[in-house]
Amino acid sequence: MNQPIYHIAIFASGKGSNAEKIIDYFAYHPTIKVCCVLSNKKDAGVLDMASSKNIYVKPFSKQELENGAIARFLIEQKVDYIILAGFLLKIPQSLIALFPDKIINIHPSLLPNYGGKGMYGIRVHRAVIENKEKESGITIHLVNEEYDKGSILLQEKCFVAENDTAEDLAKKVQSLEHRFFAPCIEKYILQNG
Ligand code: GRF
Repeated sequence: MNQPIYHIAIFASGKGSNAEKIIDYFAYHPTIKVCCVLSNKKDAGVLDMASSKNIYVKPFSKQELENGAIARFLIEQKVDYIILAGFLLKIPQSLIALFPDKIINIHPSLLPNYGGKGMYGIRVHRAVIENKEKESGITIHLVNEEYDKGSILLQEKCFVAENDTAEDLAKKVQSLEHRFFAPCIEKYILQNG
């Protein structure tokens, strides 16, 4: 019997280093395929990277996200899961309702600490350093209607050295992201179908 194929859409707003790791991880996977990469920034590096790997790319506007055009596109593409890999817009409730427990996000801190609106990128690491935290890390979670509040799938930690800058910490956290995000997605999809 043929195995089911699960289709992943990746949403990203930036350079897409996480998106690239995910695309490479699933490039020859027997049952999980990255079918498209979407971005709200038409000049985002993630679009060029995905195109260079022959992945369908779709830049879109905030309006298209909010008026249902992107939801229709995802349904037409038979997308099963949406992965947010550095996506800076809030996912509309209507899209969450269409993909219940099927939207996965990664956040560069140990939620609930250093999460919520406006906490993204280097801002997160600056706040961790300013508060002299001894550890930080990543949180991979399902997306619900509240920012960074969905069920947590995985957290991985790194130590924060006294002399670490926000940039040093960003590198430590990024290496955790690149190591754990794709296998976490695979495990969740294969366990939940
Ligand atoms: C990562 O820090 C991720 O945790 C956050 O956005 C950033 C994306 O980085 N959600 P990149 O574009 O994948 O390099």
